[in-house]
Amino acid sequence: MPKNPFQIVLQNPGFIGTLWRKPRLVNSVLKQRWLRWNRSKQGLQTLAGIEFALTYACQATCEHCSATSLLDTVRERNRLKQDDLRTAADDAFALGAYEVNITGGEPTLLKDLEEYVTCFRPERTFIGLNTNADLIDIDRVKRLRDAGVDMLKISLDSPDGAVHDGNRGLPGNHAHVLALLDEVKRTRGIRGHICSVGTGDLVRSGGAARLVELAEQRNATIGFTLPAAVGRWGGQYEVMLTDDDLEGLRSICRAPNAFFQGSVGMSTFACPAARTEIYVSPYGDVLPCPFIQRSFGNVRDEPLSAVYERMGEAVNLAGSSSLCLAGQAQKWMKQNVPASRERLDMPSCSTEHDETFCRKPVRADEVGERVGGS
Ligand SMILES: C[S@@+](CC[C@H](N)C(=O)[O-])C[C@H]1O[C@@H](n2cnc3c(N)ncnc32)[C@H](O)[C@@H]1O
Ligand code: SF4
Repeated sequence: MPKNPFQIVLQNPGFIGTLWRKPRLVNSVLKQRWLRWNRSKQGLQTLAGIEFALTYACQATCEHCSATSLLDTVRERNRLKQDDLRTAADDAFALGAYEVNITGGEPTLLKDLEEYVTCFRPERTFIGLNTNADLIDIDRVKRLRDAGVDMLKISLDSPDGAVHDGNRGLPGNHAHVLALLDEVKRTRGIRGHICSVGTGDLVRSGGAARLVELAEQRNATIGFTLPAAVGRWGGQYEVMLTDDDLEGLRSICRAPNAFFQGSVGMSTFACPAARTEIYVSPYGDVLPCPFIQRSFGNVRDEPLSAVYERMGEAVNLAGSSSLCLAGQAQKWMKQNVPASRERLDMPSCSTEHDETFCRKPVRADEVGERVGGS
């Protein structure tokens, strides 16, 4: 049974707070429903959410990272400016979107991230922020909340600290994430959420169920993405879930605070890629989602609506019953998505210089300065 917006409100009382904080969000949702009703009569999809990756730079080295095959160090110098983002976001709202997810790479590397948030009309959109949380503390979280972020979506790969820290190449990150989620629980106006990759190992070992408990203790929701054979996992189709593991994950997601990724926030779930959600790269390319790494056009060349209509036709060919195209439709992925070009190493830099990032390693004593956004 899909979790519809009203069920989500009931299951997560914090969403009532979001509506209280952002009453115009109700209008945005109603507008989307009206558009959807009209467009469905012509057999057309209607957008509900849009994801913006702001940079592919990152200080972590996750072994599964999907962004490595999207990173282009040359194009990274010419990322979308705030005006470009505002235009693309407004186009998305005209197509029905009421939910924005900010992602990367690691978006918190941007010193002026709070200003970027304001490009997405926070007064009438639900805004989530994906982060590894390495460089943020509760004061920065409060500044992001004040800019309009409603949900802090922090990655946690395992309930075991050593496994998570080892995978991320970020010593101490696991303890920091849990402590930060404890603080977010006590903070008004923003909700905590854990993002985890639902690998077969995690499902079978009981790790996924343990992560659901860790989230619940912090009054947080948790979303599992299906492992996708892209980025550093490029071409490794064996990471994709077997039917048994998928069934195991499905039953774990029956917990009231657990979701398949993409279903948290306010959307219902069927694979949303290119149908109710789309993804814009820092370079303007429009993809169905971060894991279907095929650009259907660029917002610098044409309006978002033109790309959206074209992309919907292609993805609809895959059928509508799929839970997650990138995680399940192996044949479609092989036929339609070029294999990851190359396994690029992510830059280790965490310092923004002009319009790009250097490759200096992260130094612990620099963190305060960077978090302060000097
Ligand atoms: C690309 S990251 C960007 C945001 C931030 N750097 C982070 O790690 O949370 C967004 C989410 O995608 C997940 N992810 C990355 N590569 C993936 C893959 N190949 N399959 C499934 N999920 C993946 C990450 O674990 C993370 O939760
Ligand atoms: S934190 Fe990990 S998953 Fe997120 S962008 Fe960096 S390397 Fe990729």
